[in-house]
Amino acid sequence: MLKDRNILLIIGGGIAAFRALELIRRLKEQGAGVRCILTEGGAEFITALSVAGLSGEKVFTDLFSLTDEAEMGHIRLSREADLVVVAPATANLMARMVAGVADDLATTALLASDKPVMVCPSMNVEMWEKPSTQRNVAALEADGIICIGPDSGSLACGEEGAGRLADIDLIVAEITALIGTGARPLAGLKALVTAGPTLEAIDPVRFIANRSSGKQGYAIAEALGRLGAATTLVSGPTALRVPRHVTRVDVTSARDMLAAVEDALPVDVAVCVAAVSDWRPETPAGSKIKKNSGAPPALKLVENPDILAALSAPSNNRPQLVVGFAAETENLVEQAQAKLASKGCDWIIANDVSPDARGEVVFGADENSIHLITADKVEAWERARKSVIADRLAHRIADALTRKAG
Ligand code: CTP
Repeated sequence: MLKDRNILLIIGGGIAAFRALELIRRLKEQGAGVRCILTEGGAEFITALSVAGLSGEKVFTDLFSLTDEAEMGHIRLSREADLVVVAPATANLMARMVAGVADDLATTALLASDKPVMVCPSMNVEMWEKPSTQRNVAALEADGIICIGPDSGSLACGEEGAGRLADIDLIVAEITALIGTGARPLAGLKALVTAGPTLEAIDPVRFIANRSSGKQGYAIAEALGRLGAATTLVSGPTALRVPRHVTRVDVTSARDMLAAVEDALPVDVAVCVAAVSDWRPETPAGSKIKKNSGAPPALKLVENPDILAALSAPSNNRPQLVVGFAAETENLVEQAQAKLASKGCDWIIANDVSPDARGEVVFGADENSIHLITADKVEAWERARKSVIADRLAHRIADALTRKAG
C-alpha cells in the first residue's frame, strides 16, 4: 500500500508518455499522492489536462512560471515527495541527469531532490544499446539512482529489442517495495531460485545445452527479493543482467548447480526454474575431438542429479515450500501433475512450451502461459509477461509462507 506516500512523477518526452497515465491511476489506487512534472517533450505526447485529471493535482510544466515558483518552488516540489520517479526516462533526460544539468523544471527538481530517485527508461533499441546510454545508466546507478527496465519486445517504432517502458505492474511493485507499507512480507525469509540452462561438456569446446533463456527464473528471483526475501539465484550461463535484490551464483553444469544449491541451504522457499540437462557425457574428452579420428564419436550419456527431487526429499534441510516447473508440449496438466508426484515438490508451474498460434515459442520470449498446480488444485493463469507472472507467484509464495507461519 502507498497510503500517505507522495510521489513526484516526471514524465519525459517519449512515445511511452501515455503509459504514465496508467501509472498515475495505479499509484492513486494504492493510496499515493501523485504530483507530476510534464516536460516540454512529454507535453508533445500527452496533455497536462489528462495528467491533472488523473492525478487530481495541478500539473507543473517545464515552462518556468513565476506563479508556480511563488506557490510551490521547485525545491519544495522535490522535497515534499517520498520518491521521485522519472517515467518514461528518455536518453536525453538521463544524459542531462548524469551531467547534473538543471536547465528546466524537471532537471532542476531532480538536482534539488534529497529523496530516492527511480528512472524507468524507454527508447528505441539502438538508442538504449548505444555505449553512451549504457554509460549513463551505469553512472546513474553508481549515483544510487534506481533503474527499472526497460523491457524487451516490439517497440513503438516497429523495431524489436530492449527499450520498452517496464510493465506498469512492475514499476508499481518496485515503488511499493521501496516506500510502501507492509510491502515486504518475505522480509526475514530466505529464497533460492535456479534458472537458465546447464551446459554439459563433451570436450573442451563442445557441450550439450538447451534453449532456456533464464528470463522467467530471473524475474521470479527478482520478485521474491523485492518482497524482502534474501534471495540466491543459482544460474546457468545466460545473457541476462543480475536482477535487482538478488545474489547470483554462476554455475555451468548440473552437478555445479546441485553443489551451489546445497551451499545455499537452508532456505524457506526454493523455486527450480532451471532447464537442467537431464544427461551429461559420461567422460568428457580432455582435448578437442577431431573429425579425422575415425567414425563419428559415440556419446555415452549418464543421468544428471535431479536438483528439484533432491530439494523435495524429506530432510532437516527441506525448504517449507518447494516449487518446480514442468515445461511440456502436450498433455500439460496431466504431465505436470505426474511430475508433482514424482518429484515430491509442493507446487508445479506447468509451462506450455509448444509454439503458440503465431508459431512463437516460449523460450526466450517475454510472455508466458502457465498453470499453477498444487496437490488439490489446478489454476490456469492468464497469459502475461514473465515479470507479471513472477510478481503474482512471489505474492502467492508470500501468502503460503506467512499462512504457515501464522
Ligand atoms: N529439474 C531439476 N534437475 C534435473 C531435471 C529437472 O531440478 N536434473 C527440475 C527443473 O528445474 C524443473 C523440473 O525439474 O523445475 C522439471 O523439469 P523438466 O525438464 O520439465 O522435467 P524432467 O524431470 O527433466 O522430465 P522430462 O524431461 O522427462 O519431462
